[in-house]
Amino acid sequence: MRMVDIIAKKRDGGELSKEEIEFFITGYTNGDIPDYQASSLAMAIYFQDMNDDERANLTMVMVESGDQIDLSAIDGIKVDKHSTGGVGDTTTLVLAPLVAALDIPVAKMSGRGLGHTGGTIDKLEAVDGFHVEISEEEFTRLVNEHKIAVIGQSGNLTPADKKLYALRDVTGTVNSIPLIASSIMSKKIAAGADAIVLDVKTGAGAFMKTDEDAERLARAMVKIGNNVGRRTMAIISDMSQPLGFAIGNALEVQEAIETLRGEGPEDLTELVMTLGSQMVVLGGKAEDLDDARRKLQEVIDNGAALEKFREFLENQGGDGSVVDDVTKLPQAAYTIEVPAKSSGVVSRMVADEIGIASMLLGAGRATKEDTIDLAVGLMLRKKVGDTVEEGESLVTIYANREDVEDVKQKIYDNIEISAQADKPALIHTII
Ligand code: URA
Repeated sequence: MRMVDIIAKKRDGGELSKEEIEFFITGYTNGDIPDYQASSLAMAIYFQDMNDDERANLTMVMVESGDQIDLSAIDGIKVDKHSTGGVGDTTTLVLAPLVAALDIPVAKMSGRGLGHTGGTIDKLEAVDGFHVEISEEEFTRLVNEHKIAVIGQSGNLTPADKKLYALRDVTGTVNSIPLIASSIMSKKIAAGADAIVLDVKTGAGAFMKTDEDAERLARAMVKIGNNVGRRTMAIISDMSQPLGFAIGNALEVQEAIETLRGEGPEDLTELVMTLGSQMVVLGGKAEDLDDARRKLQEVIDNGAALEKFREFLENQGGDGSVVDDVTKLPQAAYTIEVPAKSSGVVSRMVADEIGIASMLLGAGRATKEDTIDLAVGLMLRKKVGDTVEEGESLVTIYANREDVEDVKQKIYDNIEISAQADKPALIHTII
């Protein structure tokens, strides 16, 4: 087999066989196939697309390129959730204890964040003592006994994807549906998921800026999952403005606690219930989405979900009493209001730029080496569609520096107040 023939076949719109995909991925991962040939094939795929069989094969060959996490010692159907990423996305912190409270095993491998705010692990580390450095044996025991544990990323998962993604990033080939879908799905499958729920974001703060692109990606991933034996469901959700009110690590933990208590922001609560219902159905604990939603509401109302969060934090060395007293979370030295300059209705809040404002305070990392300040961030006081009076606070800044003019300016530049605006729909499509 020759790489040049594979490139030419795809360039001319042909279908690649499993053996050809294997030849490419194995050769590229071990260094036998050079970057220029791999980028040429990525560009051919960008223009010619891949059919369902090719997408499924590419995904599984990438899964097999490295280690795979074996969760077979954990009882039950392991349902994982993936979000394509957004600003103030506190969903995992709420969803994990919520579905675990219904006896669905949550065996989560998580990472640190790069960008607007931290990743799930950074946020959890805002709780004093919490850590993810646990052995695989301890991880398995915790999930079997308590239905929930989080471990840091370890092992050599999907090295083919790492190498190919880095190459795509510099060759104009990131934005290809078959390449994105196989990249994301390979990582979830290698991490051991039996079933997968996908939250594909759309809007200014999202990777996919339009509904059409988000839906194409979601459908592609659902198809791959189902074709390779992992039941998969997806939703398309709005990320034109940040989700919930909190952006920043300790602030998001506080918001997660409020949401588990049933007192969270409307949009975050709705998103959690929608994704949670899919997880409960896939986990085999409910007949249908309505039944699942009823069960989730029950564990919020009777306090079981919040108790599960406390149990989870304590099992991994954290101070569980933060669920009773959120002032035990890291506190910023200064709180500064950002007052509205005019009266009207908030008509625009540019999600990614507001996320960058939070990063300027130190809540996120610009490079992998940066350390983050867990206490700082933003608390939105208004969302799109809310009325506001001149002088009323739009946002509260939580900072560890006194001068935050740069952050204020960024916020003003990215919030618009008009005469009229509607609240955007949160859930665009359920797939
Ligand atoms: N995220 C991924 O993990 N892979 C892609 O290709 C794009 C976004």
